[in-house]
Amino acid sequence: MIPEDVIEQVRESADIIGIIGESVELKRTGADWRGPCPFHGGKNRNFAVIPKKGLFYCYKCHEAGDVFSYLMKRFGMDYPTAVRDVARRSGIVIPERAAQAGPDPNEPLYGAVAAAHDWFIRQLAELPEAAAAREYLASREITPEQSASLLLGYASRGNASLDAMRALGIGDPVLLRAGLAAKREDGSMVARFRGRLIFPIHDQRGRVVAFGGRILGPGEPKYLNSPESEIFRKGRTLYNLHAARHAMRREESVILVEGYFDVIRLVAAGLENVVAPLGTALTHEQAALIKRYAPGATLLYDSDQAGLKATFRAGDELLRHEVRVKVATMPPGEDPDSLVRKGGAGALEPILADAVDLLERKIQLLERRGWFEDIEHRREALDRLLPTVRAAADPITRELYLSRVAERAGVEKRVLEAEAARQSARAGAAPAAASEEAAVEATGVAPVRERPLASRAEWELLRIMLLGDPWLDLARRQIDPAWIRTPAAKELFRVALGHGERFIPGTDLELSEPAFRLWDRIRARQDELATQDIQSIFDGVWQKLAARPLIIEYLKLKSQLVVGTDVEKGKLMDEMQRRKAEIRQRFPQAYERWMYRRSSARRRPPGRG
Ligand code: UTP
Ligand code: MN
Repeated sequence: MIPEDVIEQVRESADIIGIIGESVELKRTGADWRGPCPFHGGKNRNFAVIPKKGLFYCYKCHEAGDVFSYLMKRFGMDYPTAVRDVARRSGIVIPERAAQAGPDPNEPLYGAVAAAHDWFIRQLAELPEAAAAREYLASREITPEQSASLLLGYASRGNASLDAMRALGIGDPVLLRAGLAAKREDGSMVARFRGRLIFPIHDQRGRVVAFGGRILGPGEPKYLNSPESEIFRKGRTLYNLHAARHAMRREESVILVEGYFDVIRLVAAGLENVVAPLGTALTHEQAALIKRYAPGATLLYDSDQAGLKATFRAGDELLRHEVRVKVATMPPGEDPDSLVRKGGAGALEPILADAVDLLERKIQLLERRGWFEDIEHRREALDRLLPTVRAAADPITRELYLSRVAERAGVEKRVLEAEAARQSARAGAAPAAASEEAAVEATGVAPVRERPLASRAEWELLRIMLLGDPWLDLARRQIDPAWIRTPAAKELFRVALGHGERFIPGTDLELSEPAFRLWDRIRARQDELATQDIQSIFDGVWQKLAARPLIIEYLKLKSQLVVGTDVEKGKLMDEMQRRKAEIRQRFPQAYERWMYRRSSARRRPPGRG
């Protein structure tokens, strides 16, 4: 799209020593310049740049090319981006894609971000104030060469970056749109990044579109990212994807890590196919991006609880995009950064080699906790595994997963398939809560979908308590606080008991917002009670609330049937019968209601989700 003669002109005017010299430490040897090869990562000066010919060449790994291919191979830029990048440095104006719809309206933003990036890099290398940043990098064992080749930068403390950008003719509106500056309330401009180590964030074409800035000392936030802008969508961007994508294609897999430092450590250690999300859980779009370049992924997250949670979340998201997922397990207390820093890339090799399939890893963890041994836990284990089975969009993976879970949990595959299909209507609900939700739904006290502030019975109870004694006292004596489940109702219940009579005027109550809303609504309908038989309402409410724990237990037992052996099933059925009889005897009204609900639910047509 860029005219051939313009490309020629850019190539000829390029300062190849200056450009490659930014990321390789070059020394003159005769007519050539020599340095350590950034492609095979050697230490000796086998890498030559020959300015007369405009070429580079490595005598060891034979990587070779011109200034454009250097930028493409080294930094993942595509061809037009590399040409534009070099042109910009030489001050050559490339006519915009005139044949098409006119200039890209975002071109000024790319220009501003690129200019800021150049400036940040220079600050890190030269600025006295940046000594703290250089020392910080040294303390984390990132050499100046590595930081240069990773294109890290430093943003100084004040607003100097804004002045530097303005001196280049970049106006305030563009600085704002590019997320480099923000406006204070008094209308003055302030630099977004101040006193931070800067990580450039590239788009897939290799253009810098945003930054991540790490604070140097203690403070919050540890990492500050550019805000979303016309050229930067956080959820659609992966850190280092531009550089990793060729290797991802070649190796048919990606290594997914949690953060910036993990990526740069692994890249510095010679791994190429490494990316990270940008401070959020892996998004749908990020998973789709990965799928475009690699059919498989290895998750290399911290080994702590948060890391595990993030691992399984990201894993399920990738499975939904038909990516095969493996989990590598770090030694306790380590992250990829600390591990490679101590033991080099060699320390990582066995960990990557031992990575196990995502589902298998889940099974391992459940086994370690002994969750396949008794029947209650077996059911819970199943509830933890089902979301992953369901996430598997690839039909073969799903088949394999179904068989594996059926085998491990001792469930017939046919039954398991039905279970997976049945619960997928509720996908996203916390697995452990599933059976409880089902119970609540079956008792008809809290519609699952709307998440009301209080169940009907809770509402009625609170309404009665608002009348004060003797009802307040009755509630204190007869209602077990554990029966109240929704948070707002729980809070109001506690406050009501604590305040006794004084609850009635209801002034000066320190309530959370939902509890206040609930209280307000109940109060608004208080008058209706005057005409009703309060004692019988209370009795009904008491039955509903008191029966609920038993009904939930019954439903938990029922949910265990699928994972039971024949003997266990027999015992379960007996136990269920006993519970049912108990509910019927102690809470006849609640029992009737429950039975009625269940049978009417069953008559509803299938596929209502
Ligand atoms: P961590 O807090 O685990 O950071 O957050 P880290 O990678 O170990 O960082 P170092 O080693 O202390 O420098 C993991 C990732 O979450 C995002 C960043 O992408 C970070 O790399 N994050 C974290 C933020 O975006 N903002 C924060 O305030 C913290
Ligand atoms: Mn870390």
